[in-house]
Amino acid sequence: MKIDILTLFPDMFTGVFNQSILKKAQERNIVSYHVHNFRDFSKDKHQKVDDYPYGGGAGMVLTPQPIFDAVQHLTSNKNNKTRIILMCPQGETYTQKKAEELAKEDHLIFICGHYEGYDERIREHLVTDELSIGDYVLTGGELASMVIIDSVVRLLPGVLGNEESARLDSYSSGLLEHPHYTRPADYKGMKVPEVLLSGNHKKIEEWRAKEALRRTFIRRPDLLKGRILSEQEKKWLEE
Ligand code: ADE
Repeated sequence: MKIDILTLFPDMFTGVFNQSILKKAQERNIVSYHVHNFRDFSKDKHQKVDDYPYGGGAGMVLTPQPIFDAVQHLTSNKNNKTRIILMCPQGETYTQKKAEELAKEDHLIFICGHYEGYDERIREHLVTDELSIGDYVLTGGELASMVIIDSVVRLLPGVLGNEESARLDSYSSGLLEHPHYTRPADYKGMKVPEVLLSGNHKKIEEWRAKEALRRTFIRRPDLLKGRILSEQEKKWLEE
């Protein structure tokens, strides 16, 4: 997968792709990251990228030319499809489902604005997706794009080891994870549940399934909407 990022603050990305799993993914040639300053594409003699809004009002608006030209440059000589993603608080709210969808693509371009608005023609005629990472306003799309890139790259085949992938599978079940414990079995009087020390794998699996369901019911009941519960699961929730 090729990931291009268009931003006026390329230094914000220093370090993120050079650590841990995102770095390993690039080293294994599963993904490549390219950060571009779209000011470099401006045809204005002062390399301006924004201007006053037509009709007046506060704030500046990012002009179409540098962003259209940057995207054109990154997509020329390509016949495969590219997702052109605009980061903005008005976009569709990002979810794990969207991460799974984006992980199937070959090429993603992220457009990150910073405090200015975007000229509407960018939304209407250039981008394929508008994404928000939540109902709050950041100073720009950069941090939001990093969140999305992180969650997409970890889904690419070969990026995570087996153990982590198995964990991911349990998350993809649509429930929150069951509680985890490690040594010691008794820490200052705080004990690990007996069943986990029993060695009875069937009982342990059952306890985990029950705790995952209960935890989801208490913390995120919205995730259970539309889920058909078995008789056993209904009983667990009544306990
Ligand atoms: N830019 C500013 N706020 C944002 C948000 N919540 N998500 C995506 N991009 C943004």
